[in-house]
Amino acid sequence: MLDWSEYEKIVTQILNRKISHNENPPQNQAISSPKNQSLFLVAGPGSGKTTVMVLKILKFIYVDDVPPSSILATTFTRKAASELRSRILSWGDEIRQYLLNDKQYSKIHPKLKNLDFNQIITGTLDSISEDVLRTHRDPGSPPPVVIEDFVASALMMRVGLFKEDRYHVKDLKEFLVDLRGTSFNFNVAEMAKLLL
Ligand SMILES: Nc1ncnc2c1ncn2[C@@H]1O[C@H](COP(=O)(O)OP(=O)(O)OP(=O)(O)O)[C@@H](O)[C@H]1O
Ligand SMILES: [Mg+2]
Repeated sequence: MLDWSEYEKIVTQILNRKISHNENPPQNQAISSPKNQSLFLVAGPGSGKTTVMVLKILKFIYVDDVPPSSILATTFTRKAASELRSRILSWGDEIRQYLLNDKQYSKIHPKLKNLDFNQIITGTLDSISEDVLRTHRDPGSPPPVVIEDFVASALMMRVGLFKEDRYHVKDLKEFLVDLRGTSFNFNVAEMAKLLL
């Protein structure tokens, strides 16, 4: 849709992010590199990793014409994943609004109106894996879930403690009571919690 110099100019003026070769050579190099080139960036805390990732993704869309549905962006925590998504959506839309208001770009207006940034897949590695497994499971089979606290504790009781009446085992009980410091209200659920 755009060439690199147009994109660079819009990012600098509209998003107020400095990515020109003169002002920020490493970010310029990272964001402008061709789409078929793998990239491995090492950067410290607060150095602009999320900024670069978002501007790189928007460059794929605006400069390289990559469809949003073929882009997957992931990170480790839910908080970071949601920050990533909201930055892509807001910056993506700011650029779009700017282009839609400028007659000079009327040729690409129909394309811009059809752009759906929501199709970009974002999430943590766990949540994306869960989605893929849910979508591609055998018909009729239950959807998989990531084991969280509640399921983990139910499994610990069912498989770990009720099986072969392990919750009656004297040594195990004594060990856990000792660990806990008191036998007050000591029950199977408490045992499961301590074991986990
Ligand atoms: N090219 C740029 N021009 C202007 N400001 C920038 C640029 N790159 C990063 N910043 C600013 O620097 C700050 C940190 O950027 P960013 O959040 O992208 O870093 P990060 O490496 O992802 O941080 P963290 O380690 O906390 O995840 C932000 O306020 C961001 O707006
Ligand atoms: Mg970040």
